[in-house]
Amino acid sequence: MKILVIHGPNLNMLGKREPEHYGSMSMEQINESLAQLAEKSKIEIETFQSNVEGEIVSKIHEALDVGKPYHGIILNAGAYTHTSIALRDAISCINVPVIEVHLSNIHAREEFRHKSLIAPVCKGQIAGLGAESYVLALRYFNSQ
Ligand code: DQA
Repeated sequence: MKILVIHGPNLNMLGKREPEHYGSMSMEQINESLAQLAEKSKIEIETFQSNVEGEIVSKIHEALDVGKPYHGIILNAGAYTHTSIALRDAISCINVPVIEVHLSNIHAREEFRHKSLIAPVCKGQIAGLGAESYVLALRYFNSQ
């Protein structure tokens, strides 16, 4: 089973960025903990980060490429969660389940973060559990 993990804008700054919201782990450390769990579970993971909306759209489209057999996508779309119809449409284009994850509890923060444009086209949403949000998403795919 192959799972694609996508980190959206500003998530490359984790560890340095607003630790009161996002914790002290860097994105590389999150990727490492996912890689360890994946190895134990015999899952292959690929990780990708971009600050550019269109690059994330194109990465999601790769799920349709022959030879890129992703079984699922774990997506932290960062601020694009709240703004991007393009990301939502990209998720709708593919027939691969996407789990939306957030480190912080977006529903307990500013009102503009309460709305996720991608949630209706995702399999589910895990928010507020820090790096564990990603881990739980990977465990879900492993249970399928
Ligand atoms: C985030 C929440 C978003 O509102 C914010 O713009 C982020 C990170 C999270 O993981 O908690 O960049 O997706």
